[in-house]
Amino acid sequence: MIIANWKMNGSKVLIKDWIASVSMEIEVNKTKNCIFCPPTCYLDYAKSLIKQGSKDIKLASQEIDSELSSPLTGGISSEMLCDIGCEYVIIGHSEQRIHIKESNKILSDKLKESIDKNIKPIFCIGESIEQKKSNKTLDVLLEQLEAIKSDFINKCIIAYEPVWAIGTGENAEISYIEEIHSFIKEELIKKTNSKKYISVVYGGSVNLDNFREIYSSSMVDGLLIGGASLDSSTFTKIYNMS
Ligand code: PGA
Repeated sequence: MIIANWKMNGSKVLIKDWIASVSMEIEVNKTKNCIFCPPTCYLDYAKSLIKQGSKDIKLASQEIDSELSSPLTGGISSEMLCDIGCEYVIIGHSEQRIHIKESNKILSDKLKESIDKNIKPIFCIGESIEQKKSNKTLDVLLEQLEAIKSDFINKCIIAYEPVWAIGTGENAEISYIEEIHSFIKEELIKKTNSKKYISVVYGGSVNLDNFREIYSSSMVDGLLIGGASLDSSTFTKIYNMS
């Protein structure tokens, strides 16, 4: 799967142009989902344009709330996401973990909320540069993976995004990505006691120069692309050539 994470970028005009051009140029392959995550306020608009473009571009939200028992100003519920045809949701992105200070309990509730409504979570994990330098990467990842209850594991896509690689232009080396992806897969398989396949995608400064090497690894099940996905032609090339 190739995922375009627009973060807090774009406008109606940019989204219209992007979907029109991606719909024209992309060669959608059923075994490789093309997933678009615009800012929440544009989800419904994006969905209507995707329908017009009639290419199988899946829609993902960058946000979901789990606190549904009381009113929540600014909240987005799983029902709302289902209502507008959202099939995926990003949960636990490092930018949210850092700024909103989401705990494992909150993340776990969000995972449950999305899975209960059949919205597939793209669960992000990754270490900071300080944690990497002090050899704490594996411990940090294990701690982050604790948010996923064992019966949710096969329903999640894991996105390994080292925080030091996000938006920095410095992607992780392929050998490092493979080592970490294999660690994540093994740990989750241990937790489920099942041999069912677990998809782990990579994110962090993926671009036109490095996507082939990263995507060609058997340990990498997809790419989560931020900055480079904003340009429709770059994103389409990465999708079509990966
Ligand atoms: P980037 O972002 O590709 O701009 O590094 C990736 C992400 O945060 O999802």
